[in-house]
Amino acid sequence: MLTIALSKGKLIEPTLELLRLAGYEGAGLAGESRRLVFPCPEIGMTFLIVRPSDVPTYVEYGGADAGVVGKDVLMEQDSDVYEPLDLLFGACRISVAALRAEIAHDRLSSKVRVATKYPRITERFFNQRGIPVEIIKLYGSIELAPVVGLADRIVDLVETGSTLKAHDLVEVDVIAQSTARFIANRASLKLKHEPLMELIRRLRKAVASSQAAQPSKNGSPATAGRAKKAKARA
Ligand code: PRP
Repeated sequence: MLTIALSKGKLIEPTLELLRLAGYEGAGLAGESRRLVFPCPEIGMTFLIVRPSDVPTYVEYGGADAGVVGKDVLMEQDSDVYEPLDLLFGACRISVAALRAEIAHDRLSSKVRVATKYPRITERFFNQRGIPVEIIKLYGSIELAPVVGLADRIVDLVETGSTLKAHDLVEVDVIAQSTARFIANRASLKLKHEPLMELIRRLRKAVASSQAAQPSKNGSPATAGRAKKAKARA
């Protein structure tokens, strides 16, 4: 039996779709539910639905044998997990943004205040450039911070760019690209080698066939949820 931690939120539907494509369809497994544990003995798996930022912790400490999470979270947390597979959905970038009216002002010679839910990524980025930074940790709605004068810059995920646009913010730097990743616990890879390798093999095949079927990024079923959200925002 494998225990798999799935990220709730934006990644859940494309993850379930990829699992189905890979032949793992658990009866009753649904993203839209208050349930947190889904035992699916018919496919030899138990799924845990957790916050994206908790997935690496579950996997690193063996609460789950494997998981699906965004590269953004992995970069932020530096967890000791095996990352064998880029699932290619959930594509977005981690960017620095500022209010359009503010980008002309060269404030970066003095300490810059940056609001973000990625304090480590932000610190690394500004340190590498020798720019003194004060980080303001937030947990969501990051785009609000410059609007109310809480920060000069934000570091956040950008997918379609519509949230930035809606708040008169512009991207000033792209720090990294992110997609969903399959991760595995290092001990489980030895102790449950066969089922885990089989899962990885089937997921890899499903990723390839899903890409072949829909080569256009925006048309892929995996990005459909995000496209729908962007449309709703527009
Ligand atoms: C994410 C991210 C941005 C938005 C980017 O937020 O933090 O706010 O999506 O998407 P866009 O470029 O397509 O507009 P999320 O919806 O996860 O909520 P949060 O801000 O509360 O984290």
